[in-house]
Amino acid sequence: MTEALTFLRRATARHGPWIHKILGGALMLLALGLLSLGAHRVLAATTRRWFERDVELRANLAVTSARRGLQRHWTSQDATLLATLEDITRDERILGAAACTVDGERLAATEQFPQPLSCGALAERLRTSTGEGGDRWSATMDLHRGTIHLYAVAISPGGFVVLAHDLSFLARREQTTGRMALAAFVLLALAASLLTTIASRLAWLGWNSQLRLALVGPTPREFEPLVRDLRALVGDLARDRVGVEDSATVWSPERLREVLRTHLEGERVILVANREPYIHEHTPEGVRVLHPASGLVTALEPVLRACSGVWIANGSGSADRETSDPQGRIRVPPGEESFSLRRLWLSAEEETGFYYGLSNEGLWPLCHAADTRPQFRQEDWVQYVAVNQKFADAVCSEIEREDAIVLVQDYHFALCPKMIRARLPRATILTFWHIPWPSAERFGIAPWREEILDGLLGSSIMGFHTRQHCNNFVDSVDAFLEARIDRESSAVVQRGQRTLVRPYPISIEWPVHRLDGVPAAPLCRRQVFEELGLAQGSLLGVGIDRLDYTKGIEERLSAVDQLLERHPEFRGRFTFAQLAAPSRTRIERYRALNDRIEDLVQSINDRWERSGWRPIVLLRRHHEPPEVFRYLRAADLCYVSSLHDGMNLVAKEFVAARDDERGVLVLSQFTGASRELTEALIVNPYDLPQASAALARALVMPVVEQRDRLRSMRALVADRNVYRWAGRMLVEAAQLQKRGRLLGRLSEAGGG
Ligand code: G6P
Repeated sequence: MTEALTFLRRATARHGPWIHKILGGALMLLALGLLSLGAHRVLAATTRRWFERDVELRANLAVTSARRGLQRHWTSQDATLLATLEDITRDERILGAAACTVDGERLAATEQFPQPLSCGALAERLRTSTGEGGDRWSATMDLHRGTIHLYAVAISPGGFVVLAHDLSFLARREQTTGRMALAAFVLLALAASLLTTIASRLAWLGWNSQLRLALVGPTPREFEPLVRDLRALVGDLARDRVGVEDSATVWSPERLREVLRTHLEGERVILVANREPYIHEHTPEGVRVLHPASGLVTALEPVLRACSGVWIANGSGSADRETSDPQGRIRVPPGEESFSLRRLWLSAEEETGFYYGLSNEGLWPLCHAADTRPQFRQEDWVQYVAVNQKFADAVCSEIEREDAIVLVQDYHFALCPKMIRARLPRATILTFWHIPWPSAERFGIAPWREEILDGLLGSSIMGFHTRQHCNNFVDSVDAFLEARIDRESSAVVQRGQRTLVRPYPISIEWPVHRLDGVPAAPLCRRQVFEELGLAQGSLLGVGIDRLDYTKGIEERLSAVDQLLERHPEFRGRFTFAQLAAPSRTRIERYRALNDRIEDLVQSINDRWERSGWRPIVLLRRHHEPPEVFRYLRAADLCYVSSLHDGMNLVAKEFVAARDDERGVLVLSQFTGASRELTEALIVNPYDLPQASAALARALVMPVVEQRDRLRSMRALVADRNVYRWAGRMLVEAAQLQKRGRLLGRLSEAGGG
């Protein structure tokens, strides 16, 4: 029953317009049919009355002309009375005639006169119906031979003549005319509906051509604004059909720019992220530009270079102030200057509470399942709110139009979307959460869980790397806020504001412009081997991370330890180089991790070290991109062992670096990247036997297999590059913006 109802509901929703048309047509035919039936009845009754009247006149005429003869022979009681009656019935319509006395005695009757009619009954009728002084009576009745009309007229002395007319021809005529009328009405109905359809089609075509004319030609002045918007929307829809998802075409900076031009009218993008893409630092050699170790920066810097716009960030470099203008602005990248970096200055108190405190001791461990307890302090929250407001104000000061497109990045700015929305209700706010979103149960431990969710729901689109993170977010909203969850379209509606929740797996640029100038793989290998003092024929593994407890660096080193234990053949041959960028070092947990890693490296090296060979090399400092890529190109394997990671772009950078199609990626199953890079050796970094076996397998993997795996992953990363990532989000954002504009115009038109 439920299934039937669902089926009906779906069928109605899908074929609604057709069902309505068919029902409308059927109702019209029914109405016309009923009308024709009624008309036919009225017509039949009228024509019957006319015929009866006609018959009466004929009967009267016949009796009048025979009256003398009838009177003469009335009493003669011989055959002449019958002969006179037969003369009267020569008229073919007169069935028979009879002569009766007023007492009901039949004097004579022609052969065809209906036998059931007795003179007594007829005399009685004549008496009662005509009353005193009356001399005639008529009636129509159905006898078994058909319908007959009786006409009785008094004939002195003391009798009357009855003429019976056959009216069955009338019934036949009625049937024939009925059929003809029905046929005529059906034809009429069909003609009418045909005409209506043709008329409405012509009207629709006319309206359409009017609309088309209005869209492409001169428009009546009063419709100009609406038509303008319609024109834009129609254009957009047509363009959208070409498809952002279209995987046949390559996504490049040019294509992304084209998307911005066509979908966003070349509009510049305003991006808010805590980390800046270029840090100016004082060094003994003078001011240097550093490129921070941040997946967020790796992904978004190429996007801003392609799009232009403004990147608003925390100015954290020691030479940042002196390299920017009084408003904190500087054109970047140095030498290319394709977009603006707007630096905001945080006080020591703000940095402590906002960056170190709530963001990195509260939200970071909250969102990562890496067994580190989050710490929530009221004073950190106060700074978090204040800094979010500071960035939201900066966004509002940068916008050029009320319905600007703003990209809010990461967990540092959960409150920004709502703050921006409060000042720019028509803005399209696209928020991307670069780290995992925990289960609702875990998220629920945050003391300001409602405020954080509420802040994020100021966004038009909320993006995560994976569907799982989207689901966790929606579950959290469901658990802690009064909001309507639209699971079908993966959206949350709160106080009339709709937030789409979407997975957009982030990526890197392709081709990687930072690989320009990096030597080819064999040379990189030679250089790195030389730097590390490795003998020819050695095998090299690399790990490249910020020094963060979510990266599983301890587990990684322990896996190397196990590898050497289980596979003596690699002792003295295999070296693992860990490039570790110090990170968030003011936080005790990071300092403790740093110490632990140092100890672990020491103990593993002590265990296996032999003449001139150490299994682990820890390079604990910031490495600029060309250096990172040199190591990635030099290695036999790259091990990414994150315990929990939104995406992990080092994995994708390794794939991009290996244009020689050599090397093996060993990848933690707890990274977002493992969903896409399925040709990597996927491992559970906690499972040391499994991880060390994967390392061993990587080190002996045949060259052909390495090539096949890398080819497949390179094709994927080339296709799903960061331009596609940004393009998809921006097009969706632009569609929302356009819809908002159109609705605004329509409601203005309606209100006005
Ligand atoms: C992660 C975060 C980024 C952050 C990066 C580096 O990738 O998602 O937002 O920029 O870590 O961390 P840091 O604290 O140095 O900016």
